[in-house]
Amino acid sequence: MLPGSDKRRKVAVLGLGYVGLPLAVAMCEAGHRVAGFDVDAGRLCDIVAGRTGLVDLDHDALARALKRGDLVVTGEPGDLAACEVYLVCVPTPLRDGVPNLSMVLAAVDTVAETLAPGDLVVLESTTWPGTTEEVVAPRLRERTALVAGTDVRLVFSPERIDPGNREYPLARIPKLVGGVTRADGEFAAEFYGTFIDTVHLVSGAAEAELAKILENTFRHVNLALVNELATMYSGTSIDLREAIDAAATKPFGFLPFHPGPGVGGHCIPVDPMYLTRQTRRSGRCLRLVETAELINIGMSTHVVDRVTGLLNSVRMPVRGSRIVLLGAGYKPDVADSRESSAFPIMDRLHQLGAYIRWHDPLLGSVDKGPPGSRVADLDRSLLASADLVLLHTPHAEYVGSELLPAARLTLDAHGALRSRRLPNVHGL
Ligand SMILES: NC(=O)c1ccc[n+]([C@@H]2O[C@H](COP(=O)([O-])OP(=O)(O)OC[C@H]3O[C@@H](n4cnc5c(N)ncnc54)[C@H](O)[C@@H]3O)[C@@H](O)[C@H]2O)c1
Repeated sequence: MLPGSDKRRKVAVLGLGYVGLPLAVAMCEAGHRVAGFDVDAGRLCDIVAGRTGLVDLDHDALARALKRGDLVVTGEPGDLAACEVYLVCVPTPLRDGVPNLSMVLAAVDTVAETLAPGDLVVLESTTWPGTTEEVVAPRLRERTALVAGTDVRLVFSPERIDPGNREYPLARIPKLVGGVTRADGEFAAEFYGTFIDTVHLVSGAAEAELAKILENTFRHVNLALVNELATMYSGTSIDLREAIDAAATKPFGFLPFHPGPGVGGHCIPVDPMYLTRQTRRSGRCLRLVETAELINIGMSTHVVDRVTGLLNSVRMPVRGSRIVLLGAGYKPDVADSRESSAFPIMDRLHQLGAYIRWHDPLLGSVDKGPPGSRVADLDRSLLASADLVLLHTPHAEYVGSELLPAARLTLDAHGALRSRRLPNVHGL
């Protein structure tokens, strides 16, 4: 609880998803009062019923905050009237491969309805460097006549959470803050310091925006490097994963990245495109980052080729083969299928005439994959009757499963079964 009541704020969180809801709960735990706003009425009902779909969320803390009234969830912009801090946590997707800020602009318009002089507005959504000053500030001025940095405080502070990472919960991840003025940044840094252990203030909003996109582009490019190496050494006697582990024994100058069937989630495959597409608009090109995009997107084609090759090795055409895909989320032990390579892989194999079945114990209902291909339960007969099992996302439940040895041929896309030394298991 905050020591001085003067530090307690009335905070509006716009967008109650992976980013916004945990933030709202953490702020309530620290003594702030939060109005959570979302345009999705179904999402609001689910939150009140405790059905958040967020594995890392402290559900007891959510229930406490709702019960005490410290957290109110709403779809009414007018309910944000008493707020003095506004956190914008809405999606920044690509539409037809182009960055799309329509949800940020819609959320900023909602903020504008109740914004008052002296209030703090923070953009948390990932976007290209320059967005806060060049897009958000003019929009606020147009809608309210309030000038960022003079009448209201405006800041960019990227969310850096890693869903499923129990070692680094929200409060332990240092928060970057950059304001359109130094004073705005300092004000926001003090606010975040009430519920985040470490706050790092940078000189401007654009530096904070670039820092966030640099972090994710760094991962994207390094994943492309190991993914390309995986295609190079696929099916050879050289063990790339062992080489990566060996290189990682160097105590400096190397960070290990591991190949996989594709780069998924809402961040790593999307954020670098905010950088590359914006750079293209200025007539220039980030060649390394664009090449990384091509390599990572191409991994699903590599997986399909590998499946086809493995079936071929047992004299079986892909057409008419029975393939079971395990794990369709974009990463292990997370209930999120956004940008997961599982679906393009299944769609392509289906087009080639394979008979697909897929299983994921964590995902809720998803409108993806070949029609009727999802199975609710995993049993020995399903695996034993498959011509090939593709372990796409190695949820913990699969990695130790006693059912896996029943499979005749397995493609282990993440190398998760290596230590089990099962027969007929192949890598990427
Ligand atoms: N998910 C992550 O792990 C992660 C990590 C770091 C940064 N980010 C970034 O954070 C931002 C939010 O991502 P997310 O994963 O929380 O998205 P999400 O899809 O989980 O949640 C976003 C929520 O915003 C709501 N919304 C959409 N338009 C709105 C509007 N105009 N007003 C109010 N609510 C609105 C949606 O209904 C949804 O509930 C993105 O820019 C993303 O890149 C995400």
